[in-house]
Amino acid sequence: MPAICDFTLGNPHEMPLQGVVTAIREWAIPHDKNWFAYKASEPEPQAFIAERLGLELDLAFEPGDIALTAGAFAAIMIAFRLVVDAGDEVIYSEPAWFCYEPMLLAANAVPRKVNLRSPTFDLDLVAVEAAIGPRTRLVIVNTPHNPTGRIYSRASLEALADLLERASARIGHRIFLLSDEPYRQLRFDGHGFTSPAALYPWTLISYSYGKVLLAPGQRLGYLALSPLMPTADRHSLRAVLFSAQMALGWCFPNAVMQYAVPDLDKLSIDQVALTRRRDRFMAALLRAGYSVLVPEGTFYLWSKWTDSDPQRQWNALADRDVFVLPGSVMNSPGYFRISLTASDEMVERALPAFVEVA
Ligand SMILES: Cc1ncc(COP(=O)(O)O)c(C=O)c1O
Repeated sequence: MPAICDFTLGNPHEMPLQGVVTAIREWAIPHDKNWFAYKASEPEPQAFIAERLGLELDLAFEPGDIALTAGAFAAIMIAFRLVVDAGDEVIYSEPAWFCYEPMLLAANAVPRKVNLRSPTFDLDLVAVEAAIGPRTRLVIVNTPHNPTGRIYSRASLEALADLLERASARIGHRIFLLSDEPYRQLRFDGHGFTSPAALYPWTLISYSYGKVLLAPGQRLGYLALSPLMPTADRHSLRAVLFSAQMALGWCFPNAVMQYAVPDLDKLSIDQVALTRRRDRFMAALLRAGYSVLVPEGTFYLWSKWTDSDPQRQWNALADRDVFVLPGSVMNSPGYFRISLTASDEMVERALPAFVEVA
């Protein structure tokens, strides 16, 4: 019996990249007695990432600006720990990755949600500005955006930077920006990318290798401080990085993953196959009557259900062994998300179900 077609999460449905296997195998062999000793942010991957990220974003990162983390999850939690005090408000736009809220609550922060501008899902800067109050400490921007696949334009991020600069002056303390960029490498159609870290000096970047390698179980990522941040502020954040990571549960990547950074950094999942699946899915869904947003990045498709009863449509797909992420988990009940990390075979098997259910 064929397995179910599970499009819910960004998990692999085929064997891992051979390069990932080779790198892990090679670096698992000890070179010295300290090979598996406690590892914090190791100097070699810090220096490697500072240079690599610097070239990519055209910013002069110093190795000390980079904290190696167990994926973007840990980087985000450390960012909260660094800049948010209990009771502070953190603004983000919905639909959003469904873990920001529980993580903010775990950090004793107050989530302040605003809506993206439907149907294009651009940032709504008027709504962001209106949400800023005396307790606002952080704004989260996720680009390329999960679940919509939007990549925010430089102009809109510049306008956000201006807004945060003015608002910080108005409320009398600095508002930080967290740029959550784990999908930065995954862009369709030659789309460019601007990091808010290049536009707003008080930006922290969270990144994960879990997406580009499609190996989210091998926890590896980093938190990076924008080198544009005034030196005094940057150094005061640097000074507490280690203690924050320790106090949050030693959320560094394991030793083997840190050694493997230069090898892993060269690799990517097959983006041609991702584009092929996106195009195949989009053409079939549009023909069947769904409204699908063309993703500019990530590996997701964000689509509207075809009628006003999303629960019935989700159930009807599930009855046909096809599972998608319902938009209701991201406060967008009229929509659903498909992960394109599926295999081609799974896509072909599932398409008739989407047509029937429409
Ligand atoms: C927007 C966003 N941020 C952070 C993460 C966490 O990534 P990781 O599990 O690789 O740490 C995810 C994973 O789905 C995500 O979609």
